[in-house]
Amino acid sequence: MSFNEIQTDFIKKIKLPSDPQYFYDQSVQFGELMMMYNCAIREVRTKLEVLNDELSIRNSRNPIEFIESRIKRPLSIVDKLKRYGEPVNVESIERSLNDVAGIRVICPFIDDIYSVADMLLSQDDITLIKKKDYIENPKPNGYRSLHLIVAVPVPMIRGHQECMAEIQIRTLAMDFWAALEHQLKYKQQIGDEETIVAELKRCADETSSTDINLLALRELITAGKEELSPAGSDKQQPEIKKHSALRPSLKRRHQY
Ligand code: GTP
Ligand code: MG
Repeated sequence: MSFNEIQTDFIKKIKLPSDPQYFYDQSVQFGELMMMYNCAIREVRTKLEVLNDELSIRNSRNPIEFIESRIKRPLSIVDKLKRYGEPVNVESIERSLNDVAGIRVICPFIDDIYSVADMLLSQDDITLIKKKDYIENPKPNGYRSLHLIVAVPVPMIRGHQECMAEIQIRTLAMDFWAALEHQLKYKQQIGDEETIVAELKRCADETSSTDINLLALRELITAGKEELSPAGSDKQQPEIKKHSALRPSLKRRHQY
């Protein structure tokens, strides 16, 4: 959606104020605010892309599979402000919402999530405002992801403006489940609610086990490669049992 479309959409969704000057000022400020959130997304995306390049050289594989981003739709902004009992104006968007700029980072393996998060947060100009670890503590429906609310400085003509952004970091498997759950939950009039809720949770748990097993498998393959390298060529081949020592700790983290 372009800025103009966002602006027009927003104007349509709110009740027009009787004061035309106030209305004009609000729409100009709204356009500026959305532009700033767009810039914040670009700043964070660039940081993540640079991190991915750097880590892929160090580890010979990409810790980020892909990145998605979005600006919250005007209708959702209005809905959320109303839900929070806040007035619907530009000032309260900035004051009350921290997920207008949203970035989703999809990683191949669970440990990549924490590497990417740690490295991003270690940057001087990124401030962690809030962390929700739905991997350590999955939602009751089985949803898993690491959520970070960060403040990022956006360079503007009048100086740096701190801007909030929500970053969701998850594995391909977590993303696949969340996308389907979102479709099933929001697009259908669900019958037989209890069974469906239980089945969705079971699928989330199975997906999580697959994530854990794939990580263990990657460790096994990596260890195997090291053993086969000239330096370790006289050592024995690794056994599955040896490397499955990784599993208990991961299982604890993902207990459900
Ligand atoms: P929102 O009002 O939805 O923003 O919730 P919140 O402010 O309490 O934040 P939370 O961190 O719980 O969730 C923020 C976002 O995470 C949502 O907008 C979704 O994108 C995603 N999310 C959270 N829970 C679920 C879930 O159960 N299923 C799916 N598919 N996505 C979820
Ligand atoms: Mg949200």
